[in-house]
Amino acid sequence: MESIPERAPDETMTYRRCGASGLLLPRIALGLWHNFGDTRADDTKRATVLRAVELGIAHFDLANNYGPPPGSAERAFGRILADDLAGRRDELVISTKAGFEMWSGPYGDHGSRKHLLASLDQSLTRLGIDYVDVFYHHRPDPETPLEETMTALADAVRRGKALYVGVSNYGPEETRRAAAILDRLGVPLTVHQPRYSMFDRTPERGLFDVLDEIRTGAMVYSPLAQGLLTDRYLDGTVPTDSRAATSRFLDADVIDEDYLERARALAEIARSRGQSLAQLALAWVLHRPQVTGAIVGASSVRQLEQNVAALEASELTEEETERIEAQAVHGTGTRRG
Ligand SMILES: NC(=O)c1ccc[n+]([C@@H]2O[C@H](COP(=O)([O-])OP(=O)(O)OC[C@H]3O[C@@H](n4cnc5c(N)ncnc54)[C@H](OP(=O)(O)O)[C@@H]3O)[C@@H](O)[C@H]2O)c1
Repeated sequence: MESIPERAPDETMTYRRCGASGLLLPRIALGLWHNFGDTRADDTKRATVLRAVELGIAHFDLANNYGPPPGSAERAFGRILADDLAGRRDELVISTKAGFEMWSGPYGDHGSRKHLLASLDQSLTRLGIDYVDVFYHHRPDPETPLEETMTALADAVRRGKALYVGVSNYGPEETRRAAAILDRLGVPLTVHQPRYSMFDRTPERGLFDVLDEIRTGAMVYSPLAQGLLTDRYLDGTVPTDSRAATSRFLDADVIDEDYLERARALAEIARSRGQSLAQLALAWVLHRPQVTGAIVGASSVRQLEQNVAALEASELTEEETERIEAQAVHGTGTRRG
């Protein structure tokens, strides 16, 4: 059996156009939801971002509330941009989002024009940049007219504060309606950000069909199910520095016999391809034609290296996807961020 590639050569990255747009995005992007707050070491944050850039990961995904505390991931990334990546802004695609609780009172959350445009200004200040490449509405807000939310996104573009817009966690019908409103406003819905992994197949139930129809790309998040689709927990223990031990978004109770049986069976399929479980999980989401790229998280440079090395592997065969299908399962006790 081949050994599992742990380190990707710098020229491994490939790019795909996002939906009908001209925007090329890396097939693996780095997300800063976890691992970039004030609780993490500055050296690790810096080393991870700089190695990502070397590996061709040109796209970094943020949100107003990433931390902890909320806002600290944007501040940390802004410092790295200023100190280590000065002059390289045009090589990078930086996204941020608004729509989850960020500050107290009626304007710190959801989908109003007031929240979105104020939050974007705050994000730009924390990041120390004039514009983001992609501004997302982070989750649907049934209380605010969709017209208002989409007009705020379009105005962010008109004001030069965002180049493209996206939505995240929107269902198929909301996505179709959002795209129609944006079309009328002359700003296309370039990208959707849904959760998608071997363990969470929700986008297959309607969303991918809508994305095909409206020609919007998908940057899928938590492709490793927050670490459940890696070797992190395969021996049945929960490492003290792991997300299951440290984050309220991943419940350690999900590391049960049922999970272990399925994860170990998937790891066996990965091994037969000369891959780690994480690499198989990434190859699997990227195999889907609607998926522009996968946004991974990484708590170390080593994890990031191993993930990018997933791109070195051969395409999944039909027989392999059928074996995966038999093992993967819905519902994992994870929560959205
Ligand atoms: N739009 C939304 O609502 C939303 C929601 C969630 C996430 N996102 C975006 O998606 C990004 C990724 O989300 P995520 O962090 O949940 O993604 P993920 O890639 O599914 O999980 C990342 C975690 O998996 C573990 N891991 C990664 N590579 C590994 C490897 N090679 N070997 C062993 N373990 C490995 C690490 O866990 P340990 O920390 O335990 O080492 C890492 O923190 C976020 O940063 C954010 O940008 C968006």
